[in-house]
Amino acid sequence: AKDGIVVFGSVNMDLVARVKSIARPGETVLSRRADSFFGGKGANQAVAAARIGRGGEVRVAMVAAVGRDPFGQACRDNLLNNGVDIGAVQLTDEPTGCAFITVDEHGENAITVASGANMALKATDLPEDLLSRAAVLVLQMEVPIAESLEAARRAGTSGATVIWNFAPVPPLSSAAEMISLLRATNVLVVNEHEAIAVAQMLGWNDGSDFLKAGAEISQRFGPVCIVTAGARGAVAIDRDGGQLQARARPITPVDTTGAGDTFVGVLANGIAERLAIGEAMERACLAASQACLASGAQNGMPYREKLDDLLRQG
Ligand code: RIB
Ligand code: NA
Repeated sequence: AKDGIVVFGSVNMDLVARVKSIARPGETVLSRRADSFFGGKGANQAVAAARIGRGGEVRVAMVAAVGRDPFGQACRDNLLNNGVDIGAVQLTDEPTGCAFITVDEHGENAITVASGANMALKATDLPEDLLSRAAVLVLQMEVPIAESLEAARRAGTSGATVIWNFAPVPPLSSAAEMISLLRATNVLVVNEHEAIAVAQMLGWNDGSDFLKAGAEISQRFGPVCIVTAGARGAVAIDRDGGQLQARARPITPVDTTGAGDTFVGVLANGIAERLAIGEAMERACLAASQACLASGAQNGMPYREKLDDLLRQG
């Protein structure tokens, strides 16, 4: 049966400093210490999906590229320890991706990603037999876009649902390029800023209303468009203009890094388990709130039992 999840995307080591407020250009701020955490949007999404998978029933595989260096080794071990299949994680001569992250006293962050090995990933690194068993292919924007697009097109042929998280929204060469990405996508996941950035790249001027942007994207190019709105939860918009809302739980965030990735990973699991989109979104929102309660992208990501308990508590 097609029940697997394949994540084609980035693996990073995150170097994190907590600051009172994030430095502006030309400014220097002091932080007590730096911590390293496992990260990368792709790896984060794979770990979120694997932790929520029912006793390994939904298999999660990562297709990625890391360096032949200690970070690469540690990142591969971490994926393995979380139950992610790393048979298609490539070793390259480029250094493992590294993200420089500052987190302020409100849990908000600023991130610079040094891509390294991530940019060496090729669509041909996605084995056909892995894809043929996949119910879902998950993509982001931290590996080469042309390779991701090629992977998405292959998923279209094999019958996997393509979930594409347009994060971070890249500066694309043309509206035509953006359109080809959207046409290859079944479920688009963006935050409010990303929704508006996509709309602007398509030359739509009314760039302030993310619901309108989502509706437009969905109607013209087909994907269900899910816009995540942090503490306000998420909304899914389909091509008939239908809207579905999911709420987030009120929390006091410690570190919002990885919240969006948790949403995507848990959503992917829900879709692979063939849950209704509303239910998959509700689970994803709850998991994303949980992820904000611990430092680092992955430390707060819930396991299935915990998430089911929280859902029961309502
Ligand atoms: O989405 C959060 C992630 O973005 C971090 O883990 C960092 O590695 C960057 O890729
Ligand atoms: Na976190």
